[in-house]
Amino acid sequence: MFEQLLFGSGSKQLIGLDISSSSVKVLELSKKGVRYQVEAYAAEPLPAGAMNERSIADPKLVGDVIARAVSRSGTATQNAAVAVSGAAVFSKIIEAPASLSPRELEEHVQMQAQNHVPYPLDEVNYDFQIVGPQANNPEVLDVLLAACRKEMIEQRQAALEIAGLKPKVVDIELYALENACQLLSHQMPDQGTGKTVAVVDIGATTTSVTILHNLQTVYTREQQFGGKQLTEDIMRHYAMSFDDAYKALRSGNLPDTYETEVLTSFVNDTGQQIDRALQFFFSASTEFTHIDQILLAGGCAQITNLDTHIHERLNIPCAVARPFAQMGVAARAKPQQLAKDESALLVAVGLAARAFD
Ligand SMILES: Nc1ncnc2c1ncn2[C@@H]1O[C@H](COP(=O)(O)OP(=O)(O)OP(=O)(O)O)[C@@H](O)[C@H]1O
Ligand SMILES: [Mg+2]
Repeated sequence: MFEQLLFGSGSKQLIGLDISSSSVKVLELSKKGVRYQVEAYAAEPLPAGAMNERSIADPKLVGDVIARAVSRSGTATQNAAVAVSGAAVFSKIIEAPASLSPRELEEHVQMQAQNHVPYPLDEVNYDFQIVGPQANNPEVLDVLLAACRKEMIEQRQAALEIAGLKPKVVDIELYALENACQLLSHQMPDQGTGKTVAVVDIGATTTSVTILHNLQTVYTREQQFGGKQLTEDIMRHYAMSFDDAYKALRSGNLPDTYETEVLTSFVNDTGQQIDRALQFFFSASTEFTHIDQILLAGGCAQITNLDTHIHERLNIPCAVARPFAQMGVAARAKPQQLAKDESALLVAVGLAARAFD
């Protein structure tokens, strides 16, 4: 009755595979005691037409890029954790009596799924995880119900199969991000204790805002904004192809006028987007009126001085997320490239860390 492919189960040998709108990122971690080490890493850009925003438009093309990334990473692991995201994904905390047997709980969840999931159940994979008893009402369990349209998962399976990988875990991108946020506590004031921290991941098409209080997630929101706009601005302004504009951006090999004529306006837009996202949070919350720190992530966090700009504009301390600062890095994981790409790897880190759940 239950399609186990959503969530799935961890495995000690697992690569985190972030198939995002602009690239494929492969990351493998190991863990000794509490210390993580990066064992393998590679990222490969996705050509135009491979993705349609967050869904795979061409599984063969994406499968070939995954295969290349896996081979360059040097990993021998074939088990992968991938994520789904966007409008095809639904999740909600539902309630269940704590007295139910496992079988009764499954039936209860199925009934609730029929009521809550906004698609016919035969068009989705769905699964659930027990969050735990409610603090003020231990007879009631909070249960996380998650559903995803089948084709979204099938496309990922198809692409992984072409690359010779097995999808062991299918996570929801926001949860993978939340998982990685836990590994940023070393950057937070008082290690996050008693603090409210916004982790803002600015990718190519999507900006995700995760707000943690005391390291617990209190709010998440995705908005359609990202560095694709910057790449397109460069493309138009200097009459380049999209791929050349992206290469120029990544290498920093840009004309002298780039900062004043292109970048400044994107940086201003970014500040405005973050400001607006935080206002949304404050207006949705009765409890929070203050953010202690912003951690910037995603490829756009690599824009020089973006953290300083955001700090000055919003008057909130701001830094670039460094998920690997307290991890070891194996020589074959290309430490220099890894350090350059660090901020863009939060989702990959969250997925790779599923190996140790
Ligand atoms: N060195 C850099 N300097 C400035 N911007 C960069 C740099 N490298 C990448 N970017 C920007 O970051 C974006 C890619 O970031 P990231 O890898 O986080 O996106 P993604 O995960 O593919 O996107 P999404 O999560 O929206 O699907 C690109 O659109 C690019 O504009
Ligand atoms: Mg991303």
